Amino acid sequence: MASPTSTEVVNQVRAAVDIVDIVGEYVQLRKSGRALVGLCPFHSEKTPSFNVNADRQFFHCFGCGAGGDVFSFVMQIEQLTFPETLTKLADRAGIALPSFSRDEEDTPERRGKKLMYEGHNFVAKLYHHVLTNTPYGAQAMQYLEKRGITRQSIDEFQIGFAPDSWDFTKSFLEKRGYPLQLMVEAGILAQSENGRIYDRFRGRVIFPIHDSQGDVIGFGGRSLDGSNPKYLNSPESPLFNKSRTIFNLHRARQVIRKRNQAILFEGYADVIAAWQAGFHQGIATLGTAFTEMHAQIIRRNAEQVVLCYDGDFAGQEATAKAIEILQKAGCTVRIAPLPQGIDPDDYIRQHGAEKFSQQVLLQAMPITAFRLQHLRGKIAIRDEQDTARYVDEALKVISTLPNAIERDMYLRELADEFDLSLDALKIEQRKVYKQQKSQEQRDKVTPVRNNSINNGMFAGTKQLAPAHLNAERMLLYYMMRSRDVAERVQIGCNASFIVDDHEVLAAHLYAYYAEGNPEDAGTFIHYLEDEKCKQLASGLAMMEYKEDVSDKEIEDYIRQVNNYPTRMELERLREDQRNLNLQAQHTDDESERMQLLIAAAQVGMKIHELENALKEG
Ligand code: UTP
Ligand code: MN
Repeated sequence: MASPTSTEVVNQVRAAVDIVDIVGEYVQLRKSGRALVGLCPFHSEKTPSFNVNADRQFFHCFGCGAGGDVFSFVMQIEQLTFPETLTKLADRAGIALPSFSRDEEDTPERRGKKLMYEGHNFVAKLYHHVLTNTPYGAQAMQYLEKRGITRQSIDEFQIGFAPDSWDFTKSFLEKRGYPLQLMVEAGILAQSENGRIYDRFRGRVIFPIHDSQGDVIGFGGRSLDGSNPKYLNSPESPLFNKSRTIFNLHRARQVIRKRNQAILFEGYADVIAAWQAGFHQGIATLGTAFTEMHAQIIRRNAEQVVLCYDGDFAGQEATAKAIEILQKAGCTVRIAPLPQGIDPDDYIRQHGAEKFSQQVLLQAMPITAFRLQHLRGKIAIRDEQDTARYVDEALKVISTLPNAIERDMYLRELADEFDLSLDALKIEQRKVYKQQKSQEQRDKVTPVRNNSINNGMFAGTKQLAPAHLNAERMLLYYMMRSRDVAERVQIGCNASFIVDDHEVLAAHLYAYYAEGNPEDAGTFIHYLEDEKCKQLASGLAMMEYKEDVSDKEIEDYIRQVNNYPTRMELERLREDQRNLNLQAQHTDDESERMQLLIAAAQVGMKIHELENALKEG
């Protein structure tokens, strides 16, 4: 949390940025009622439960409970400290920060990371300069030209060339005062076992890799002659995490959002070729496996993904894997067909943009068609046995289709191809479907209760009557909007809230108003320092209860809260009474029975008393 001296500047920055703009850079938001909703960037989900309130400038996810103001959002998504976030947002808003609030937590780790960013940026510029303006770059320029990469793309993608030298980059970095050990850690330089530091990239065409903010965090270096490794990539570093970095995303994001579609390629060269051909929604992973994290990042920007992997067996296998991961993330996937042994870059160079659009992208097929084709490629059919095996596997694929017309279509194709009776195929398909269903039943684990509304807040309080819980929530909701309601509750709820978290939030709210703060949920959420409190408050503030609440309703809620201990006591007594009566029924000993019945009657009187107290209360 910022020091008290900087509260003013914090407020100034908060007023100058719009949470909708900031969140919008990470999450595709849609209007829904009064709120803006999207897929939560903090947990994996398929239906949007992430809400942004533009009026009050806060966010809340009903799925995972994340919530807070624009500072919390940036801190969480970028993993920054508060001072770092403040600096970042102030820069963005063009507000000059007094020196005390800048870099307040300037730890060695932070300073190191900052230098790594600067080092990457510097080296990217250096390599680009070498390629485009020096004789060292001539051969690489020719190579790129031969590959059809235009000067415009070279500038747009900041493509560069690392000269074939062991210390070219190193000496430049040294001269500029960059700590070399840090540059090794960043992956820009390398170090031998005996400690000698040298240039990692030598004699390679350099493709800078950016993070989602557009900062260079790594390089892909291609050898000019295809010698091994063809591509040398930066290693993982404090800046560069391959399982969550997507090549070209920062450039493509706008277009991807607008079209609600991303084209996923395997290689840098494919993305660049597609970009040149006018397809600006192309992205790629970095020579590592496609991960759930990648899929989630894509899904936050678009629903549709066109997979455009190489037309060879490895490409098809990778496609099959990516489909599964993308589907799990909630993407609609289509697969663009490429001829055997041709990658998108080759195709565009050979056939041009128009044909790539018509023959590849527009021919993108649904998943089932791809799966059947992929299966066909895997099973060599020589005899009836092979046919039977293929048909069986194909029926499994077809059976996953929920739409009967689609199933029928594929079944007809299958019948035609192998000259089989359509009716027989349909009967077989029903069988396969039933088998799958019963297998699913067996595989089913007890579903985890995941009520998106309860938001984890009810955990551990299951024995509470929902009415009472609801009353506490309603009270807090109206207390956040009205100092008057808060005061009434403070005085009226002498028995205090039952749920600890509610009690804590109420206490903060009393303090907040006591300090003379305004009746505004957004300001209150910002005021809270504890993450759990922030989440609870933002969740409540997001609820859409009616605007006007009568005094009587508030009183009813207060009464419900106050009556809770009595109700619990009543429940306990009724249970006691039932037990005593039961025991009396089952005993043969007459005097014992009398004793039990008397005890039950006494409990009954107590119950009566409490019931009356509740009625009056
Ligand atoms: P490809 O082998 O398909 O290369 O690898 P490409 O994209 O067609 O490259 P060009 O056209 O020959 O220049 C696809 C991706 O796999 C990663 C790179 O990210 C590449 O873009 N890769 C490939 C590596 O990381 N290392 C390698 O040695 C090869
Ligand atoms: Mn290629």
